[in-house]
Amino acid sequence: MQSDMTMPLLAECASDLSKSLPRSQRDPVIGIIGSGDFSRSLAIRLVGCGFRVVVGSRQPSRVAKGVFPDRVEVRSQREAIHAAERVVFAAIHPEHYHSLVGLREMLAGKVLVDVSNATTLTSHKQSNAETLAELFPKSSVVKGFNVVSAWALQTGAHDGSRQVLICSNCSDSKAMVLELARRMGFSPVDLGSLCASRGIEEAPLILFPSWGGPILTTLILFIFFYGYIFLRHILLPYLDHRENNFYQLPLVTVNQTLPAVALVTLALVYLPGLVAAVFQLGRGTKYKRFPCWLDCWLCRRKQLGLLSFLCTALHAVYSMCLTLRKAAGYTLLNAAYHQVKAGIENSWVEQLVWRADLYLSCGILGFGVLTLLAITSLPSVGNALNWREFTFVQSGLGYAALALSTMHTLFFGWDFAFSPGAYPYYLPPAYLLALIPPCIVLVGRLFLAVPCLTLRLAKIRKGWESTQYWPVNNQEPGGSREAHPQQNFDDV
Ligand SMILES: Cc1cc2nc3c(=O)[nH]c(=O)nc-3n(C[C@H](O)[C@H](O)[C@H](O)COP(=O)(O)OP(=O)(O)OC[C@H]3O[C@@H](n4cnc5c(N)ncnc54)[C@H](O)[C@@H]3O)c2cc1C
Ligand SMILES: NC(=O)c1ccc[n+]([C@@H]2O[C@H](COP(=O)([O-])OP(=O)(O)OC[C@H]3O[C@@H](n4cnc5c(N)ncnc54)[C@H](OP(=O)(O)O)[C@@H]3O)[C@@H](O)[C@H]2O)c1
Ligand code: HEM
Repeated sequence: MQSDMTMPLLAECASDLSKSLPRSQRDPVIGIIGSGDFSRSLAIRLVGCGFRVVVGSRQPSRVAKGVFPDRVEVRSQREAIHAAERVVFAAIHPEHYHSLVGLREMLAGKVLVDVSNATTLTSHKQSNAETLAELFPKSSVVKGFNVVSAWALQTGAHDGSRQVLICSNCSDSKAMVLELARRMGFSPVDLGSLCASRGIEEAPLILFPSWGGPILTTLILFIFFYGYIFLRHILLPYLDHRENNFYQLPLVTVNQTLPAVALVTLALVYLPGLVAAVFQLGRGTKYKRFPCWLDCWLCRRKQLGLLSFLCTALHAVYSMCLTLRKAAGYTLLNAAYHQVKAGIENSWVEQLVWRADLYLSCGILGFGVLTLLAITSLPSVGNALNWREFTFVQSGLGYAALALSTMHTLFFGWDFAFSPGAYPYYLPPAYLLALIPPCIVLVGRLFLAVPCLTLRLAKIRKGWESTQYWPVNNQEPGGSREAHPQQNFDDV
């Protein structure tokens, strides 16, 4: 097969003949086999980007007028392959690839772009692109464009992701398709050789791959807290003394569950960093891999953080609506009536006023800081920050948000926690349970701030290692630490 790069993609340089043609006649000719949805969208996009397109159909006469733009020619498969200068898209389903075998010689030397998706997530099956490459050994097969939908192709990559994943065993052909994708307004990503094609084909089938664990964790926490609050506030009082609190199920119980879940999830964002620090301190090195569960946990902190933010935002909205409820109105009226009957003129309790203002203020501040974290997690904002700024917001302000949220909950319930009435049926309030993980994290963080631990951790994170990891030939008699060159980190 001749070198692909010697054959230009642009028709202007393709032949002297093309130079004599009018502008539109000199645009590069791209072939597309198949006249379905993807073919139509691809043709519209290519024509819009200045290419000439010839669509190859098994029965061109059956393709209704107006399906393709006027500038697109619909011909037989043979004619389309013949007209295409270099690039031919196979826009048919992979189970029909074998029907093109008769055109093998015509496709020899051309770049055959496989745009198909996998139908199931089967890791042991040969990819469609590899099958196509086996069927057409004289063509160079490039995998690509399958991750964009027909819709995204038509709307000119303004809707949905602009990323196009591309791979091929022929680097020249791949470079050509990468350039084509760029000219079409997409952001091509080179994923190497054709063995990456299976992953590319399966990519559109995977649903939020990094969100499964965090969503499941949040869901389990929600079910646990909702069930616990239902048992403690609604079911047991009803069974015990027929107290009917079922009206609380849609709003009050949800507004107790959501913040508890938010607080625990937020603690779960900052706990793995501490566990990682304990591992590093214990081992005296950062070069030993963390256990898989910790690695996975560290990689899911962004998702956990965003889910915590979602629960907090919902809690804030629910809380604003608490006083709008009919139940709140009736409770207030009843309390006022009893107060009048009891002859109480002033029900102002200074301590309660302070407590409510303090817990609300801490909650609002905590929510504000969390919003900042959520904004910086947007790629467009995060990319504008340098590493130090991002760490300051995510780690520094993140801990501030955790501390404010914990204070909000403590101010809300600290005096209830010490009254025996807060433990009906020996069950502590849900917010007390929710306070355990953030308190562990905050105390752990304070503990790690002890100078001897902080300094040792900083040294380890800069590359210092405890003597047990020194290479044997570097070991000093008696294992003296002072002799190790990395001890210079002490001076840093
Ligand atoms: C609303 C919200 C949005 C968030 N958005 C993002 C986001 O966009 N991106 C993001 O990354 N996090 C995000 N998070 C999660 C969290 O804020 C960050 O992960 C934060 O950096 C954690 O800080 P930390 O101090 O616990 O740990 P870090 O400062 O990350 O880590 C402490 C130390 O642990 C070690 N360590 C950490 N990870 C690894 C690892 N994988 N392998 C080996 N060592 C490791 C390092 O030595 C590091 O110095 C978000 C959280 C929230 C609440
Ligand atoms: N639709 C999307 O959004 C999208 C997104 C990414 C990737 N893809 C991939 O693009 C390819 C085409 O998808 P599509 O949605 O365009 O499908 P489609 O609408 O069903 O079109 C497929 C075309 O294949 C041709 N064809 C049908 N049966 C055939 C057979 N027995 N032998 C040979 N050719 C046959 C037909 O064209 P003729 O009758 O003119 O020959 C038909 O129009 C698939 O591999 C799909 O995975 C599609
Ligand atoms: C705009 C911000 C916030 C507002 C307006 C707000 C408001 C409230 C209100 C009114 C209550 C009392 C609810 C009741 O009487 O049942 C409450 C409780 C609580 N809040 Fe918030 N809050 C905010 C942010 C937060 C944040 C950021 C967290 C933690 C991530 C949080 C966690 C809690 C918890 C755990 C409770 C106790 C729930 C219970 O068991 O009743 N709040 N909040």
